[in-house]
Amino acid sequence: MIIFDTPESMRDWSLTQRAAGRSVGFVPTMGALHEGHGSLMKIAVERDDITVLSIFVNPTQFAPHEDLDQYPRTWETDLAMAQEIGIDAIYAPKPATMYPEGYSTYLEVEGLSKGLCSRTRPHFFRGVATVVTKLFCAVMPHNAYFGQKDAQQCAIITRMARDLDLGVNIVECPLIREDDGLAMSSRNRYLNAAEREQGLCLSQSLFTALELLQSGERNVDAIINHVQNGMARVHIDYIELVDALTMEPVTTIDKPIVLAVAAKIGETRLIDNIKFDPAKVPAATLTTGVV
Ligand code: PAJ
Repeated sequence: MIIFDTPESMRDWSLTQRAAGRSVGFVPTMGALHEGHGSLMKIAVERDDITVLSIFVNPTQFAPHEDLDQYPRTWETDLAMAQEIGIDAIYAPKPATMYPEGYSTYLEVEGLSKGLCSRTRPHFFRGVATVVTKLFCAVMPHNAYFGQKDAQQCAIITRMARDLDLGVNIVECPLIREDDGLAMSSRNRYLNAAEREQGLCLSQSLFTALELLQSGERNVDAIINHVQNGMARVHIDYIELVDALTMEPVTTIDKPIVLAVAAKIGETRLIDNIKFDPAKVPAATLTTGVV
């Protein structure tokens, strides 16, 4: 496994791989790796000839009051995990390399970046779109793998890659959960035992909402109220039912949707979501018999 820390060295290596006819897969992360990241890496390793993992805690997606300094950094265990999965190269630039003195170029994806996480983190997707573009320029991947855990991020990166003709195929990978349903996240390690227990209400409420959707419920307010009741004991940031492609709130459920939630448990902000496609409900699970 080779480690690069400058865009030039990373790009030279990737271009050599591409010239040799190998497909380059890329998994961008902020490190503190868990099995959610692991699943993305495994999919990439299986699909592409060589796979690059980036580890970079990106300052431009954190607001001044957020947890940039506190964000977990677990370099040694991250390397061990990457090695075991079969990652070929790691790109880990320094903040000063990514954002040198006088840095002033930012990318904004309009529309998709307005709702959900942007309401409380208005700076967030500008930082994500900017860093992902810079990472793509260094790694030059054919395919880049992102998790459905961050559904809005996936939609934004997919749109950005299309709009800017980046020539990178964005692959959305399934959300990985702990055995009890909690969505895996690097921030879960901030939770104490009582908070972790409380945090389970996000996934539990989403799962029962999914059952309602699968049994034919199509009233958006009823679904949202249901989730709201399930999350009554935590500080809700948002509960939204949105179009899976545009991330716009929907009033009818007649195309693929994402039911997304965010909440604060103590000082820790957690997000979770489920996807639902009304066209793919097995007839046997519908109480009404018609969709
Ligand atoms: P990070 O939170 O480290 O996540 C890196 C990738 O892992 C993202 O695509 C995220 O969706 C995916 N991921 C995290 N938890 C997951 C889970 N439980 N199941 C499946 N996939 C999961 O997302 C970022 O970093 C940053 O915003 C980044 C894209 C690297 C830009 O800085």
